Amino acid sequence: MDRRVLGAFLEHLGRAVYEGVYDPKSPLADAKGFRKDVLAEIKGINVPIMRYPGGNFVSGYNWLDGVGPRAQRPTVLERAWNSLETNQFGTNDFIDWARAVGTEPLLGGNFGTGTVAEQVAYVEYCNVDRGTKWSDLRRSHGYEQPHNVQYWCLGNEMDGPWQIGQMQAREYGRKARDAAKQFRIIDRGLKLIACGSSSATMPQYLVWDREVLEECYDQVDAISLHAYYGNTQESTGGNIGRYLAMNLDMERQIHEVGAVCDYVQGLQRSQKRLWLSFDEWNVWYRARSGNHTNGQRKFAPHLLEEQYNLEDALLVGGFVNTLLRRSDRVRLGCLAQIVNVIAPLMTNAEKTIRQTIYYPYAWALKYAHGRVLDLQVEGETYPITAGRRREQVPFVDVVATHSPANGEVALFLLNRDTTGERDVTVAWQSPSPARVLNCETLTGNDLKAINSFEQPNNVVPRRLDAPSPGPSMTFRLPAGSYTVAHLAIKG
Ligand code: AHR
Repeated sequence: MDRRVLGAFLEHLGRAVYEGVYDPKSPLADAKGFRKDVLAEIKGINVPIMRYPGGNFVSGYNWLDGVGPRAQRPTVLERAWNSLETNQFGTNDFIDWARAVGTEPLLGGNFGTGTVAEQVAYVEYCNVDRGTKWSDLRRSHGYEQPHNVQYWCLGNEMDGPWQIGQMQAREYGRKARDAAKQFRIIDRGLKLIACGSSSATMPQYLVWDREVLEECYDQVDAISLHAYYGNTQESTGGNIGRYLAMNLDMERQIHEVGAVCDYVQGLQRSQKRLWLSFDEWNVWYRARSGNHTNGQRKFAPHLLEEQYNLEDALLVGGFVNTLLRRSDRVRLGCLAQIVNVIAPLMTNAEKTIRQTIYYPYAWALKYAHGRVLDLQVEGETYPITAGRRREQVPFVDVVATHSPANGEVALFLLNRDTTGERDVTVAWQSPSPARVLNCETLTGNDLKAINSFEQPNNVVPRRLDAPSPGPSMTFRLPAGSYTVAHLAIKG
């Protein structure tokens, strides 16, 4: 696996940047204005890559507004979320913050209102050492060393009617190709991600992806996938078994978009196989309309502040399993987002709390290293109806990683059965585990339980009794739970 599959996302949206990451007036801020508590939380979990600055925001963003002396940066009307953007935090600030957090930047270009020339200038500003108009501008802003940003999104959700500058597939594909070609003059090795369908429910789903790739396949490395899920009447009818199977919808999307990439590869007789960038995924359905998405021309408004409960966390565990299982194809992924906006972390003026979904994500970051094992799984299933499809879904969803570096193994187990415990027997081929290093589970009696500023530890993991290490190990998974077991092969 590429660890970048476990990345996250920071957008200029609501209180993500301002009050989340950057809050110079807060007593919790450091000398650069970064919230120290948030920085420590994100640094502590080792997020490998962070997408920035959007999202929908990027399609109206002028990157030049956010660089140079702060006093000279303009306040603008931000039109994706109808908010006030002061530009007090911009690209160089983000790079400083990302370095402090220990994460790699993934930058997005504006393919909405932005021209190709402006985006090429942005890459030059970031990555060229010196001696050109834009690299010298960066140096004049106090950044002598180039930022060397390797991963770039060629716009955001350009198929969406909500997107500033929405385009037709072939029109976008040609613009992406032209930009990519020029980006590669600056740096041949850049990793460039074209915009795929913005969800599997779009009317042009897969057709968009095919047409875009027919225009730009030779110049890009990957295509993006986005998906948000919810336990709505419409999608699950309140059926928890259906809800907890939604990571399999994600798996299907990966399969289908991957198939389109391979189809275009065949059409173009190309040697190159694209990889997938699942650069927006999460549960998001409560704070999704009305005042939750309209900033009403305010600065740092409360937008998309979804409160996550236990069942959401279990499903996020399922998404982590799917991303790991399909890391043969998905090399990059971003939990959307990281703080305050559909996020595992929430701030107020005094502190930061961990929402329920923090735990499965943090476990993956902590324990998933090295290779993903190809498990042979047998087990009981239950029926669900997903749209027009009827499917059998395994009660237990399991994925495992093995680190050749230290011989450690991690098992990630989702028990979708909310009515009873489930036993999982792991039959190891040689060598088998010699030690259980840790075994924890996230579970509870109330699937709707949340963490709040008043009760931040309402939903937290607890230790789970693990079986003795050996060639056959039976784990007893609590009803409705997500479990991690960390094992050492050597004694
Ligand atoms: O993550 C929130 C929004 O969801 C992003 O700005 C956009 O890309 C997607 O529609």
